Amino acid sequence: MSQINRQLVLASRPQGAVTPDNFRLVEAPLAPLADGELRVRNHYLSLDPYMRGRMNDSKSYAPPQPLNEVMIGGTVGEVVESKNPKFAVGDKVVAMFGWQEYGTSNGTGLQKVDDTHVPLSAYLGPVGMPGVTAWYGLNRIIAPKAGETVVVSAASGAVGSVVGQLAKLAGARAVGIAGGADKCRYVTGTLGFDACVDYKAGNLYQDLKAATPNGVDGYFENVGGEVLDATLARMNPFGRIALCGFIAGYDGQPVPLRHPSLMLTQRLLVQGFIVSEHMDVWPEALKRLGTLVAQKKLHYRETIAQGLDAAPEAFMGLLKGKNFGKQLVKLI
Ligand SMILES: NC(=O)c1ccc[n+]([C@@H]2O[C@H](COP(=O)([O-])OP(=O)(O)OC[C@H]3O[C@@H](n4cnc5c(N)ncnc54)[C@H](OP(=O)(O)O)[C@@H]3O)[C@@H](O)[C@H]2O)c1
Repeated sequence: MSQINRQLVLASRPQGAVTPDNFRLVEAPLAPLADGELRVRNHYLSLDPYMRGRMNDSKSYAPPQPLNEVMIGGTVGEVVESKNPKFAVGDKVVAMFGWQEYGTSNGTGLQKVDDTHVPLSAYLGPVGMPGVTAWYGLNRIIAPKAGETVVVSAASGAVGSVVGQLAKLAGARAVGIAGGADKCRYVTGTLGFDACVDYKAGNLYQDLKAATPNGVDGYFENVGGEVLDATLARMNPFGRIALCGFIAGYDGQPVPLRHPSLMLTQRLLVQGFIVSEHMDVWPEALKRLGTLVAQKKLHYRETIAQGLDAAPEAFMGLLKGKNFGKQLVKLI
């Protein structure tokens, strides 16, 4: 009797906010493996903001997610069957199998990982793509010096939480911006940032000013909109801004910028980046991040939805800030 693979495909493109109708559940029988192939039971699926952009049929740095195909996504899981000599049953692998319970592959692009000291799920968070994103933007664009002030938005999230902790390890003052008192308490209390500004409290610029008495030397942007405006106004001359994400505008709302001339008058370096275009740094970054997590010097938090069916709701929540830390879906 053949096994069934449950998958979520993109059924339609969102008009504005994502809705459950944009996804469709498909049950596909698993075909027998060909020589050279292996099969993985996915344990966790990563939900990431970039997926929202892929749901649009518009020009971007990556092609759109095709309709009626399995939604793109990073996964970690365990090899359950193998006709590939490089992979044995029981190996743990990181892959891009997407929103489905099983993945079948010839091994290309799969990374074996060791979950002895680093939990499997962390390979989708601080020791995976979000962690490398933080490492790259901080070290290669902001390059903080000891004593400088680094601000990061979406500070309690997968990327932002790593940015601030790495900035602290580099000797900088780390200031987070996050939505809500709970998230801010976590950012200063557990993650060890020097300060955190709750942008939902209604006093963003004044609170940020109080949290950055010496101005801002490096800003790691995850959000856009009013948060970017407020931080721009605190930038010191020759400050560096790493443009990582603009999540406040992903559903199509315009992201206003009221004072763009500050980029000139403060002589700022403003650099956008896409982490997948810098594969050369991944080994160095992952080694550092894996060591820090194994030594419990890099803290992280996860929000875990249970089962594939819960993925659309969890994804919609991620785009509204309902997640607290890295958003995952547990598939087994
Ligand atoms: N350039 C790259 O290569 C690259 C790679 C990975 C990620 N990214 C970007 O990095 C950013 C963070 O990604 P992540 O995976 O770490 O996600 P995350 O921070 O774990 O989760 C997203 C967070 O964004 C905040 N948010 C959501 N909607 C918002 C809105 N309308 N206004 C303000 N904040 C909002 C929420 O935090 P609050 O509750 O605190 O608002 C939410 O928890 C995203 O913009 C993503 O696109 C870029």
